[in-house]
Amino acid sequence: MDKLFVNGGVALKGDVEIAGAKNAILPIMMASVMSKSSILIHNIPHLRDVTMTLQLLSKLGVKCKLNYLKSLSVEIDSTSLQSTSPDVELVQSMRASIMLMGPLLARYGEVKLYYPGGCVIGSRPIDLHIQGLQKMGAEITQDDEYIFARATRLKGAEITFPVVSVTGTENIMSAAVLAEGETIINNAALEPEVSNLANYLNQMGGKISGIGSNRLIIKGVKELHGAEYPIVSDRVEASTYLVAGIMTQGKVRAKHTNMNNFQAVIDVLKKTGAKISSGNDWVEADMLGKKPKAVDVVTQPFPGFPTDVQAQIVALNSVAEGSAYVEETIFESRFHHVSELQKMGADLKQVKNKVYSNGVKLHGAETIASDLRASASLVLASLVAEGSSVIDKVQHIDRGYELIEEKFSCLGADIHRLHDNHFIAKQKSVVGV
Ligand code: UD1
Repeated sequence: MDKLFVNGGVALKGDVEIAGAKNAILPIMMASVMSKSSILIHNIPHLRDVTMTLQLLSKLGVKCKLNYLKSLSVEIDSTSLQSTSPDVELVQSMRASIMLMGPLLARYGEVKLYYPGGCVIGSRPIDLHIQGLQKMGAEITQDDEYIFARATRLKGAEITFPVVSVTGTENIMSAAVLAEGETIINNAALEPEVSNLANYLNQMGGKISGIGSNRLIIKGVKELHGAEYPIVSDRVEASTYLVAGIMTQGKVRAKHTNMNNFQAVIDVLKKTGAKISSGNDWVEADMLGKKPKAVDVVTQPFPGFPTDVQAQIVALNSVAEGSAYVEETIFESRFHHVSELQKMGADLKQVKNKVYSNGVKLHGAETIASDLRASASLVLASLVAEGSSVIDKVQHIDRGYELIEEKFSCLGADIHRLHDNHFIAKQKSVVGV
């Protein structure tokens, strides 16, 4: 298993190119199984979750072709699809595989799906996905392992989500595009990735209106055709690099990004004392060589502060000036990074869904990555800590950050990836264990 090795203390400086969004590409690739002809998607991030989605689709018989000309692109042709039962192991390792349920059911009339896995950040139920599809006429049975869904043709329905669910909205919206009649989704998620998927479905011939609002109206069509489509840039990746620049008292410019998609994060970053500037497709945070101030944050669905940037702010508060708290309201168990940051000397106290912090100087330590965003927070803390740090189980990071050590290296960080054997030798010589 790979580990990341970081020598902290370098103020990060420079530009970093932001990739396409993980949470946009996954539902878009999965919705591609609904098209009657091949589709071409641009600005694909090179992530482990994308690799796994390509494997999932290939195992269903879908043909995928990569193209590296402008950005990384993929052509997906599902006319050769042979199965509606996605590979169990792949489904288990990725929560987003639930996003295959609506599209497969809507287009092929059946799906047999193993319960999806993914980051361990709470119970992560799928009841809203199932209830929504049932309301559209699907017959769904479940046993301890599988969900079986059938429908000759789904029927439009009015569905009101009791809580905002990103993939729940995406699953129902995708399925509704091929349903008979009109579907209305109330309390729909507003995340930019949901709009990116909605616009993609419309480009394939779907009829979705209300995009960007919490009431989506979908008029069902009989079939979808091919499309060529770019993935929106990753607001979580951009936020992570800007936080890294601020924590290390440096100056980082995130390029190929859209500040409107993460204004709530920008508002919080301004409160650290960083000078934030922006242009057409970039945002820059300049800490002007000063220590950042600690910031209070409460996570909320979009347009509020994203839960996917919560761990990075806990890391920032660990080294910032003063005391603050971070409250998690979306997932009930998303503070695995707290105990790892404490190994580095962080003065953090968790009380239920809040983490209180007093900023201190962190020291290098060996930590274990538990989930995607928690892993990112450990990298950030290691970049600013005194001495060397090792982050174990970095496969979590590769699910959502492409070329992470390369991108940080280009900003001046001393960061290396090591495989088990190489790592032992390096660790003995540098960490002294
Ligand atoms: C998506 C994102 C993830 C992000 C999260 C919240 C993808 C692939 N993942 O996850 O990065 O952290 O949104 O912004 O896009 N809930 C239910 N029943 C359901 C579904 C959800 O009760 O059937 C609850 C969840 O437990 C949670 C809340 O709804 O408390 C929000 O979860 P949801 O938006 O569905 O998260 P995901 O779509 O899994």
